[in-house]
Amino acid sequence: MPVRTDPLSYLASEIDSLKSQGLYRHLRILDGEQKPKSTFDHRQVVNLSSNNYLGLTTHPALREAALDATRRLGVGSGSVRTIAGTMDVHMELERRLAAFKKTEAVVVFQSGFAANAGTVAAVLTKDDVVVSDELNHASIIDGCRLSRAAIKVFPHKNAAAARTILRDLPSAQRKLLITDGVFSMDGDVGAVPELCALAEEFGCIMMVDDAHASGVFGANGRGTIDHFGMHGRVDIQVGTLSKAVGALGGYVAGSRTLIEFLYHRARPFLFSTSHPPAVAAACIAAIDVLEKEPQIIQRLWDNTKFFKAGLQKLGFNTGLSESPITPVIVGEGSLAMTLSDRLFAEGVFAQGIAFPTVARDKARVRTIVTATHTRDELQFALDVFGRVGRELGIV
Ligand SMILES: Cc1ncc(COP(=O)(O)O)c(C=O)c1O
Repeated sequence: MPVRTDPLSYLASEIDSLKSQGLYRHLRILDGEQKPKSTFDHRQVVNLSSNNYLGLTTHPALREAALDATRRLGVGSGSVRTIAGTMDVHMELERRLAAFKKTEAVVVFQSGFAANAGTVAAVLTKDDVVVSDELNHASIIDGCRLSRAAIKVFPHKNAAAARTILRDLPSAQRKLLITDGVFSMDGDVGAVPELCALAEEFGCIMMVDDAHASGVFGANGRGTIDHFGMHGRVDIQVGTLSKAVGALGGYVAGSRTLIEFLYHRARPFLFSTSHPPAVAAACIAAIDVLEKEPQIIQRLWDNTKFFKAGLQKLGFNTGLSESPITPVIVGEGSLAMTLSDRLFAEGVFAQGIAFPTVARDKARVRTIVTATHTRDELQFALDVFGRVGRELGIV
């Protein structure tokens, strides 16, 4: 018998290359609940790495709703939505989200990633064109590729450059103009009003991915469209249920026609099993919390202002952040990883992020505060940042 050589051996050299560049990461293991102070890899740390903006992952109302749904309905839906996997609780969640977002209808996907990739790929064909911010999320990029439409990228938030691209396209060609509402690595806000005006001028479909704005921006956390007063001017709004909402999932809010089309053509909706009832029930409970307890969103913003100002006072480069996501930009990938490791050793968990997630010279650690951090926890984190930043010559 011939000796079989491993056809995947090239992967080991990729990993060796990551190791030699100081970019190899192991998965940190969370022991217990996702909290502002948690135990990762057996060390208790102030946790600045979750997207649990409002602390809803452990909110008693969500937990109870999930337990009650599990007791009544079981642990799984048993099918994709289009065959036997649409339960009352899925439909109720979509109705509640549509009312919350002030749109005609909503379709829920298994994740925000599936919502973006599945929707862009469904609404465009190879004859169409997508005009996309250069820092849009990977799920948008994948959706664009899957659609086979032509992809035109404009420099980050540069509406004038987007206009030049649109002006040079044939007027009859179908165009999708797309931006993140909040950019996940920089924490800045997309050029939503300027791009909505362009979409109207050039007859584009306008799409905003509000993953990091859901539960954070706008009245009761309705997102950047609400924040900018753009209701009715964005054709496709994506939100996530996996970050501030505390559970799992993504959704598209828009016209009834759009949603019916996605029910028939969005491949993650058609070909992947729907949420367990516990997830849908927890998300409904989260909407109740957003509607009845908006003060937690205020607490998130108070903590955000305190922490961001503290980092800036220490002399760190926090980029152009306008949200609870505050990057600490250091340049070299290996320096970002060293900073993250040193912070962790001193009791603060802020993930290092390097190329290809961000540009080679813009490596960083990313911090995200939540509504549930105490001032003492945030002050402790700032003290550690100051000490370690000086030790590494960053400030
Ligand atoms: C901007 C943006 N869009 C979409 C997603 C995907 O959302 P989800 O985690 O629900 O799949 C993310 C999450 O990483 C994100 O940052």
